[in-house]
Formats: sequence, C-alpha cells, structure tokens
Amino acid sequence: LLVNMSMKYLKWSFLALLMLSVIIMTWYMTLPSHIVIEHTNSMYFYEYEPVYKQNFLFTLRERLKCKDTNPFLVILVSSQPTDIEARQAIRVTWGSKKSWGDRQVLILFLLGQGAEREDSLALSIEDESILYGDIIRQDFMDTYNNLTLKTIMAFRWVSEFCSNTKYVMKTDSDVFINAGNLLMFLQNVNSSDSFFTGYPLIDNFSYRGFYRKTYISYDEYPFKVYPPYCSGMGYILDGKLALKIYEMMSHIKPIKFEDVYVGICLNILNVNIHILEDTQLFFLYKINFNICKYRHLIAVHGVSSREMIRFWQDLLTDTS
Ligand SMILES: *[C@@H]1O[C@H](CO)[C@@H](O)[C@H](O)[C@H]1NC(C)=O
Ligand SMILES: *[C@@H]1O[C@H](CO)[C@@H](O)[C@H](O)[C@H]1NC(C)=O
Ligand SMILES: *[C@@H]1O[C@H](CO)[C@@H](O)[C@H](O)[C@H]1NC(C)=O
Repeated sequence: LLVNMSMKYLKWSFLALLMLSVIIMTWYMTLPSHIVIEHTNSMYFYEYEPVYKQNFLFTLRERLKCKDTNPFLVILVSSQPTDIEARQAIRVTWGSKKSWGDRQVLILFLLGQGAEREDSLALSIEDESILYGDIIRQDFMDTYNNLTLKTIMAFRWVSEFCSNTKYVMKTDSDVFINAGNLLMFLQNVNSSDSFFTGYPLIDNFSYRGFYRKTYISYDEYPFKVYPPYCSGMGYILDGKLALKIYEMMSHIKPIKFEDVYVGICLNILNVNIHILEDTQLFFLYKINFNICKYRHLIAVHGVSSREMIRFWQDLLTDTS
C-alpha cells in the first residue's frame, strides 16, 4: 500500500513539474526579445538633416527687451497652466528680485496649452501674462510626456529673443532657489563657452519596469545607461552653449526625459558636465528647512508653494 501511495505521489509531482516547465517555456517565448545595448552611443539619435526642428507657434512670448536689459541670467521655470499658486509663490519669493548690483535677472515661466478649459482658472493665462509679463507658451499640449517640447521651446526662446544673456538656467516650479547664492556662484565661476552644471546624474540606468513616470521603452531608448546629464530640477549653462544646444536639437530625436535629451545633445557636442566639488548646493530631494543649509544651497527640489513662502521668510528674518 505504501509503495502504491508513493508511486501515485511521484506521478503527480512529475505532472506538476511538467506543467510548470511548459508554463515557463511559453512565458519565456512570449517575452519580447529586446536587445539592450551596453554602450551608449548618442549618435544613434542624430540625423544629418534638421528633421526634428519643432515649429510650434508661440502663443505668448513676452516682448522683453533683452537687447536693452542685456541680462546676466535668464531663469526658465517649467510650469503647468494650472500651477498658478506655484508661479505666484516664486514671484513673491526668490523671483522677486530682478537685479543684483548691475546684473539683471529675468525669470520666465514655460507653459504648453492646457487640457482643461482655461476659463475654469481664477485668472486666465492671458491675464496672467498681461499682469506679470513673464509667460512663454507654445501651442503643444501641456503633458508630462511633452516636457521635452517645453525645454526645446525654452532653448528656442533664448536663441531667438535673448541670445545675449550670459547664463541660462532651466528649473521647475517646485524648486526653491537661493537666488543670491546662485548669482554669487556664477560671478565666481570660470566662464567658458561650454559651461554646464547642476545636479549630475552619471551612469543613470534606463528603467523598464512598471512605474510609468520613469519608464522608457526600448524603441525610444535602446541603451542601458543614459549619457551624463544634470537633473531637470535645475541646470545652469553658458548662454553661448544654449545657442549651440538649440541648433543641435533640430538634429536629435526628442525622447521623453528632457534632461536626458539635453544630455544627449551635450554628448554629441562633446561638452563635459562641470561636476561641483561642493555637494551641498543642489538637492534632488527636499531637505527640511535648516537655516545653515538653506543659506548655503543654490537649489532644492520638491518644495510646495506654502513651504517656498515660509522658507523664504525664515531665510530673510533669521539674522542669527
Ligand atoms: C504633445 O503635444 C502634441 C501637440 O499638441 C500632441 O499632438 C501630442 O499628443 C502630445 N503628446 C503627448 C504625449 O501628450
Ligand atoms: C578658475 O581657473 C583657474 C585657472 O585655471 C583656477 O586656478 C581656479 O581655481 C578656477 N576657479 C574656479 C572657481 O574653478
Ligand atoms: C534616472 O533617470 C530617470 C529618468 O530620467 C529619473 O526619473 C531618475 O530620477 C533618475 N535617477 C536618479 C537617481 O535620479
């Protein structure tokens, strides 16, 4: 009886094992056979003809007299149409001071076309533009996957309307910037036509998992790692380099991550990212308010509108 039972048991386990292997085999065979390329080659994205030149219309573009003001720095802040609170917070905090000595700073917001009807907003974008004169907008849809179009718009705006600026910074509306430090930093930096800095991301992997925000398809990006780039939370570059990058952009196929895209352009232009020795200047994630740290840093990411106002007041009032 015992032998009989164990024989039966053996038969069943054999069957189960067989089933399992069949399942694994079919799963394996239906897996897409993607080839991940180890060595990143930015030239893969390059076209000899400028076939990727974007021709979206500027629906708002501010007739600032860059020729007259001759700005030292232009800060371009990526923002969504509905983010009016964040824009207001920036206008009354770090964006409020427009000149530092004889150095002029321009702060402008980058927008696409809103999906929702804009009359549901308390203040329409057009009104906001008339009131503050700081909105740049083109007629592409303002979506997360279109952020690269927004960055291309920023570089185009600099090239066409403000090519005489000494420096350009691109940042996001949830970034707190210690503008005084930023100006001081730029005054002391060794100026060069290929100056590019920020929070460096070296050898960052392309992600193929389930989280949609950071996912990128093999079709869009077939390489394992991204070229060196600086996080989109805030990168700073020489004005002359901005013109070269914009020119290059018309030859490079846009990919969904705007910061990686700029990294590809830099890579083809043979420009190395300037890595800062001081690691306490750019913060990719929010750090709690600490007077010493906030006095020292240049940019910190992930700050809400309320926090921005509170941190700014704390920074101004604390004289210890
Ligand atoms: C980006 O904008 C274009 C032009 O408005 C639109 O056709 C396209 O669907 C948008 N793409 C995404 C991914 O939202
Ligand atoms: C600028 O360049 C000079 C000479 O190459 C060097 O000695 C100096 O440390 C540099 N300054 C900065 C802030 O990088
Ligand atoms: C790596 O790249 C993805 C896509 O650009 C980005 O979301 C992520 O934050 C990067 N990794 C780090 C450590 O920042």
